[in-house]
Amino acid sequence: MNDQSEVRLRRLSGCVGAEVSGVSLSGDLTNAQFDAIHRAFNDHSVLVFRNQQLEPDELVSFSRRFGPLEQHVLKQFAHPENPDVFLISNVKEKGKPVGAIRAGQYWHSDCSYMARPTMASVLHALEVPHTGGDTMFTSMAAAYDELSEPMKVFLSGLTAVHDYTNAWDVFFSRVADRPPLSDEDRAKVPPVEHPIVRTHPETGRKVLFVNPGFTRHIVGLTEAESRALLDLLFAHAQQPHFIYRHTWASGDLVMWDNRATWHLAVADYNMEERRHFHRTSIAGDAPY
Ligand code: OGA
Ligand code: MN
Repeated sequence: MNDQSEVRLRRLSGCVGAEVSGVSLSGDLTNAQFDAIHRAFNDHSVLVFRNQQLEPDELVSFSRRFGPLEQHVLKQFAHPENPDVFLISNVKEKGKPVGAIRAGQYWHSDCSYMARPTMASVLHALEVPHTGGDTMFTSMAAAYDELSEPMKVFLSGLTAVHDYTNAWDVFFSRVADRPPLSDEDRAKVPPVEHPIVRTHPETGRKVLFVNPGFTRHIVGLTEAESRALLDLLFAHAQQPHFIYRHTWASGDLVMWDNRATWHLAVADYNMEERRHFHRTSIAGDAPY
């Protein structure tokens, strides 16, 4: 059935996101279909596929078409049958969360705290709350484009330090139900330095590559200068015209380009309702 079908696209907002229809991701995609999806991914940074029924192995096979996968620091939240699938979930068994609870409830780009940050993340919704629990995406390429020329010049040679523990310091320390980060896990994620403006390796676009979740400070500036400038860039990138907000239905598969976007999980749903997702991570390169 996939052989005959044509990949169709519908833009979801002014600068980020497109809905893709006409394909089932559980079957084998033809090269032509994959190429169309890959082009759409580079053009729109966030792709939404509706009504996808995928076993963990099928999710992994689809994800691998884009490149090798990587596994998350928090190994305890891997899918029991397939370690390439990570669980994003508020479901508890015997009082303990089965997956990462409250994952990404702050603006971030996945694993920017690694020397080679995740290229793309693929999230498949299995169970969603009746109301709320949306995910928001913002285009960091559009955000870069709208900076003034003097600001672009100022930022061009600068680097910033990214650190996983920043998210724990600024966010998770305020929530009760997220287990603490073990010393062993902390040791796996030492801080790294990345250019503030990176070049997207496939589109050639320049992208603002700092984020509220993981960026600690700008190298070479005073603490006050760094804080003020990061806060300005963070506020700039959160303007509504850069954003697509996804309201989930079960069966939705959404994939995003961490080189070109931030995302945020909106924490407005009833935690008694199950929100249970499967996720894969496609490995990326060192930013330049
Ligand atoms: C993620 C993430 C957002 C969400 O999977 O990387 O941030 O809405 N999830 O669950
Ligand atoms: Mn995330």
